[in-house]
Parts: sequence; C-alpha cells; structure tokens
Amino acid sequence: MNTGTVSLRELKEADMAPILALERELFPEDAWTPEMFEAEFSQPASRRLYLVAEDGNALVGYAGMMFTGGSQADVVTLAVDPARWGEGTGTALLTALVDEADKRGYEEVLLEVREDNPRARRLYLGHGFAEVGIRRGYYQPSGVNAVVMRKALR
Ligand SMILES: CC(C)(COP(=O)(O)OP(=O)(O)OC[C@H]1O[C@@H](n2cnc3c(N)ncnc32)[C@H](O)[C@@H]1OP(=O)(O)O)[C@@H](O)C(=O)NCCC(=O)NCCS
Repeated sequence: MNTGTVSLRELKEADMAPILALERELFPEDAWTPEMFEAEFSQPASRRLYLVAEDGNALVGYAGMMFTGGSQADVVTLAVDPARWGEGTGTALLTALVDEADKRGYEEVLLEVREDNPRARRLYLGHGFAEVGIRRGYYQPSGVNAVVMRKALR
C-alpha cells in the first residue's frame, strides 16, 4: 500500500527479504550478503542501529549505523527504493541515525560513499557532512574509490 506516509522503525527479521532484494538492485557490484547482515545483527544493540522506512506494509528504505564505542559513529548502509527517490525518505533515515549518534554522545559521524555516486554525495553534503578523504580502490571488485565524509556533532 502506498499512502504517501512513511514511518521509521527498527529493522526486524521479517524485513530481510525485501532488504536483500533492494540491496541487489541498488548495489549490483557490492551488495551485502545475508551473512554480512547476520554478522551486523549479532553485534550487541549498544553497537548498532538498523532502521527501516515503511509505507503501510511496503518497505521503502533502510539504513544502518555502527557505534564503535569511541568517539566515532559510522553510517554503514543507506538505501531507498528507486520508485520512491526524491520524497525525503533518505533524508529521514540519515537524520534519525545522526540524531541517535548525537543522543548517545558521539562526537562525529563518518561514512564512505562511492566516488561515482553524486546523488548520495549531494545528500550527505546537504546534511552537514564534509568530504575529508579518499580511499583509493576501496570498492572491490570494481576498484572504485570511496570518498570519506564526516560530520562533527560537538
Ligand atoms: C541516496 C539515496 C539514499 C537518497 O534517498 P532519497 O529518498 O531519494 O533522498 P531524499 O528524497 O531525502 O533526497 C535527498 C537529496 O537527493 C537529491 N534529490 C532529491 N530528489 C532528486 C531528484 N529528483 N533528482 C536529483 N536529485 C534529487 C537532493 O539533493 C536531495 O536533497 P534536498 O533534500 O536538499 O533536496 C537514494 O537515492 C538511494 O537509495 N540511492 C542508491 C543507494 C545509495 O547510493 N546509497 C548510499 C550509499 S553511501
């Protein structure tokens, strides 16, 4: 059902099928496998937060953050169903993660984004992230560079 009203909640096991389908569609070269998600979910709740965006029963996006326990939180994934791009869902997911890092007292949020992904880079730049470095050949097997982006929280 598409009511146009998207809400956020924590990810649960039943979300994995639509998430894996979106993952393969959006990241054909670097899709996470079920095992990679499992490894993330086996971390204690204090070290991670995974959110989904849903419209009625339809999952329209998801995002994850890792809290390492130091000063730095990392956005590890962010994705929205292409049929729903440009409606603010990506912004809502990113904002919720950054707000949680702030609430947990973290000093900065970091992330890596493919250099050839201008749309995502623009999203992050528009939300207070600055480009602070390049990791050459970070994405494999494509060899595409990663741009490292950082937002200071305090
Ligand atoms: C990047 C992504 C998560 C953004 O999700 P989204 O729901 O479209 O994001 P929003 O609607 O909040 O828009 C965010 C920004 O995208 C840009 N944008 C929005 N609609 C757009 C359009 N129709 N055309 C071009 N750019 C547009 C704008 O810069 C917008 O910022 P604004 O709020 O200042 O206008 C989504 O495009 C996606 O899933 N991409 C593939 C996966 C990916 O690249 N993930 C990031 C990996 S690091």
